Amino acid sequence: MRVVSGIQPTGNLHLGNLLGAILRWVRMQDEADCLFFLADLHAITVPIDPSELRANVREMAAALIASGIDPNKSTLFAHSDVPAHPELAWILGCTAKMGWLNRMTQFKAKSGKNKENASVGLFTYPVLQAADVLLYNATHVPVGDDQKQHIELARDIAEAFNHHSGTELFTAPLPYIGGGAAARVMSLRNGAEKMSKSATSDMTRINLTDDDDLILQKIRKAKTDPEALPDNEADLEGRAEAKNLVGIMAAIQDRSVDAVLADYAGKGFGDFKPALADALISMLSPLRGRLMELREDKAELDRILDEGAAKARTLAQPTLAAAYRAVGLRR
Ligand code: TYM
Repeated sequence: MRVVSGIQPTGNLHLGNLLGAILRWVRMQDEADCLFFLADLHAITVPIDPSELRANVREMAAALIASGIDPNKSTLFAHSDVPAHPELAWILGCTAKMGWLNRMTQFKAKSGKNKENASVGLFTYPVLQAADVLLYNATHVPVGDDQKQHIELARDIAEAFNHHSGTELFTAPLPYIGGGAAARVMSLRNGAEKMSKSATSDMTRINLTDDDDLILQKIRKAKTDPEALPDNEADLEGRAEAKNLVGIMAAIQDRSVDAVLADYAGKGFGDFKPALADALISMLSPLRGRLMELREDKAELDRILDEGAAKARTLAQPTLAAAYRAVGLRR
């Protein structure tokens, strides 16, 4: 089992990232050979200030380690430190079809109304994402639901490449998506939108850096409805905000939604919200404490990232060379 996954080093780590991906990465470290990276080459597909990006890479590395990623168990690196990623992406871009990329819903969402003005990099980044995982023959890619389509594209590219080159070079990876709310944590203000770092209002998300008071305030102000909670998950249908909050509680406590509802059936959000805020604070406050310490030691973070990149470069080299040879390039 080879686990590979990445996160863009833009801004802060939020609860969606944590429940959808990072805390599941942490659990997989003991079961598999894991590589986790900061997708800084993805971060430049949209305008970003260079000094901000440089700072974000360290900040995100510190946030991952604070959340439990252990650089002694897993290989942690920035993908711009491993040139094999963009090199393989070029080769795979000659296998991927325009039609496949045209179907990517995330490009449509991120490019908005003005597609002509979006960067070519934003359009082709799913190919780089395919290279990110195929380079290491990933078998499992733990991601939130929003990345499923990209991992399925990586499967299609792997299968097409193998077929055309008459090789078994690439392993077709499986998206590994958490159950319940972990797959898709929604905005605290709108149950139809996912929690994201790009939403303009900070009240829509819980950040790893939020202090206890702010977490409490955000949960108190989270959108809900006046109904009492039911005793089973099916009866939450049509109540997107309620479903999201109960789902978050279930994901934090690693219990089913029905088990959480058994404690709160017939009660309203006046009872539920303080309990949810408590659960969030207990989970996040030790992580935040570690982040505050780790982010101070820039030299140590750089050392960890350098060491991870050296390991990743060694692992990536044979696959890249084989891909060059398979298409007839000198290597
Ligand atoms: P990114 O940086 O947007 O998100 C990192 C991880 O967090 C998950 N996630 C969520 N999960 C549940 N609910 C949410 N509201 C939520 N928001 C974010 C994402 O699904 C992801 O798992 N393209 C990727 C980064 C990437 C990558 C890769 C991932 C680059 N190469 C190769 C896997 C494999 C991205 O932009 O994730």
